[in-house]
Amino acid sequence: MRVGFLGTGAIAAAMVRGLAGQGHRILVSPRNASTAATLAAELPEVAIAPNDALVAGSDVVFLCLLARTAEEVLPGLPFRPDQTVISVMVDAPLANLRRLCAPAREIAITIPLPPIAGGGCPLPVYPASPALDALFGRRNLILPQPSEAALNAHLGVSALCSPVLDQLLTAADWLAGFTGNPEAAEAYVAAMIRGYLPERASRGELASALAQLSTEGGLNATLRAAMAPAKNDLREGLDGFRTRLGLDDTNEGQT
Ligand SMILES: NC(=O)c1ccc[n+]([C@@H]2O[C@H](COP(=O)([O-])OP(=O)(O)OC[C@H]3O[C@@H](n4cnc5c(N)ncnc54)[C@H](OP(=O)(O)O)[C@@H]3O)[C@@H](O)[C@H]2O)c1
Repeated sequence: MRVGFLGTGAIAAAMVRGLAGQGHRILVSPRNASTAATLAAELPEVAIAPNDALVAGSDVVFLCLLARTAEEVLPGLPFRPDQTVISVMVDAPLANLRRLCAPAREIAITIPLPPIAGGGCPLPVYPASPALDALFGRRNLILPQPSEAALNAHLGVSALCSPVLDQLLTAADWLAGFTGNPEAAEAYVAAMIRGYLPERASRGELASALAQLSTEGGLNATLRAAMAPAKNDLREGLDGFRTRLGLDDTNEGQT
């Protein structure tokens, strides 16, 4: 497949690396110049092309720009009705994309995360996209969503990565205060959490893992009780995204 990436920043670079070596011809736009040059130098299937040539020469175009840049850049580009456009941009609703990428009709939004470079990334998508399945489905977890609001709710939850990592670092720091070995403390915390996470959790595996860590009076249950207020903080923080992500009360039941 001929695949183009408009906006060669952090997430585009991860996606290009995740696609490499699978027989696709990949075009990346010239900005960011250094990221584009690095990808083209490292990966034989990657070439750099100006935005208009990239759109003209791609079957599938991934939009990896900042949303405000997209408003300026996209309207002048030669999109075609037979072309697939997949946006990864935050704050770029489907209605705007349809306007900006006309006459392209097959337009979807997904939410890649940097680990997509190595595979195993969850990819919620709306609407369902055969092109996304074909390109990334073999090595990643494609999760089609019933509505744009459902997709946007994933954006909210994706922000959990940073506070969770922050907690892991706090625990590692506490541990290192007793062991005097920050590197081993970090390694311990990361390996411990990785070990508890099920490979594919979809049928209550997370709840089962938690149940196994709930012995009354045990260290896990005791720390969880001490941190119980953090659950409300998390819900309140997620609810704080409602307006920005277009999640009004009527959306909740559908998700
Ligand atoms: N990073 C993530 O983990 C992540 C995850 C999911 C979704 N997203 C979304 O993905 C989008 C990109 O995020 P990012 O983190 O990759 O940002 P980024 O690193 O800033 O990438 C944006 C890229 O767009 C380029 N650009 C600016 N003007 C351009 C133009 N006229 N034509 C072509 N390219 C142009 C920038 O080049 P210059 O550096 O030269 O200005 C930059 O390389 C955002 O909408 C973000 O919300 C990001």
